[in-house]
Amino acid sequence: MLNQNDKNAPVRVGIIGLGTVGQGFLRLLLKNREILRERLGFPLTLGGVCEKNPVTLKGLSLPPDCVTYRDWEEMVRDPRISLVVELVGGLDPARTLILEAMKVGKSVVTANKALLAKHGEEIFGSAAAHGVDLGFEASVGGGIPILRTLRESLAGDRIVRLAGIINGTANYILTRMSREGLEFETVLAEAQRQGYAESDPTFDIDGIDSAHKIAILAAMAFGSPVTLEEIPVEGIRHIKPIDLEFGKEFGYVLKLLGIAADHGDSLDIRVHPSFLPEHSLLAEVDGVFNAIELSGQALGPLLLFGRGAGGDPTATAVMGDVMECARGIYHASRAQVPALGFPFSGRIKKALRPLSAIYSEYYLRFMAQDQPGTLSYLAGVLGDRGISIESVIQKGRDRGGSVPVVVTTHRATESQVREALGIIDASVHVTEKTVVIRIEDVSMEGSLS
Ligand code: HSE
Repeated sequence: MLNQNDKNAPVRVGIIGLGTVGQGFLRLLLKNREILRERLGFPLTLGGVCEKNPVTLKGLSLPPDCVTYRDWEEMVRDPRISLVVELVGGLDPARTLILEAMKVGKSVVTANKALLAKHGEEIFGSAAAHGVDLGFEASVGGGIPILRTLRESLAGDRIVRLAGIINGTANYILTRMSREGLEFETVLAEAQRQGYAESDPTFDIDGIDSAHKIAILAAMAFGSPVTLEEIPVEGIRHIKPIDLEFGKEFGYVLKLLGIAADHGDSLDIRVHPSFLPEHSLLAEVDGVFNAIELSGQALGPLLLFGRGAGGDPTATAVMGDVMECARGIYHASRAQVPALGFPFSGRIKKALRPLSAIYSEYYLRFMAQDQPGTLSYLAGVLGDRGISIESVIQKGRDRGGSVPVVVTTHRATESQVREALGIIDASVHVTEKTVVIRIEDVSMEGSLS
């Protein structure tokens, strides 16, 4: 790790990537220069920037002593830069530049959840091997300080469960579909026009971004390496307004959740749309906001709520990490708490439970033939597989030969439900594939069992 030998010299930060978060961080660094110096006890300055887009660069007013690097290699190798902030996003060159910076003894701060979820083991391993610090608070929940909370404030407790709304785009779409009864495609197109959704929204709406974030959260909360490929992921593309309407009649609100629970010998980590009781805290998190609810064995429940994206909020998370790394550089000491909250080599890999083994309540919408005996057939197949019905709604008559019959169940395993639906969906009693939505237990008790 680089040390600051000249105690009168500032710690100089280099930023690679000046998109929304990069520019937010730049603004914060320049605007709060004085407060940063007061809090740190030494100056923290902008040493240089590296941005491929000349139009972006031209639009910024950089201080005269800030170096503009043509490529990241030049910045990473420059001894005047003590600390690298990677805000390029994506897998490459982000991965290579972080590894190269660490190799030359530089601490790194990043917001790159996709990279950490995919290549986290390599990157955390490299930080440990080269004795540098790695800050990544901004990778989950934007400005919400969830990682530091897990790593430091809750370090003495056993975290048993986490559930979070960790994608603002998906939450915005579901909120509008629910409030206005609009189709998914209509809201997505409008969100793209208004700049709330990316032109390629795949990661956000297919649950991939949430999977990146829950992988990082679970690794920190439970001290186990988590592989992205192990996590069952379902997005919101297929959600229909009719199910949001029926959900309301049962007192439920639909949210795309990242869920992670520690069952002692195994972990349950998944991303999918979930119905939540309308008066639960997470159900009330609307629009682009994020929230993460967790349960500690000693602490009980905790909810962190705030802005999960945006340049300025996310920049605060980047800055917290930059300041921590800068202190280490200035005082020639590494952060006392390991990046993941557990010593890198001391972690024990826990197996992930397959989706078939999860235990949940379910919302099932059958498109049933409107004929005598259909309801008793559906109830019979569910009952034969040990699935107990909690309530039933049937509305209207004959929409092209079938009517929606909505059933909510008591707790059952996913394999029981899939087996029953395999039989029902192949029968003459229904005209479409049954819609299945899990109903989440929000008591935040589920744990270590
Ligand atoms: N695309 C993310 C979201 C923000 O919609 O929440 C960055 O993680």
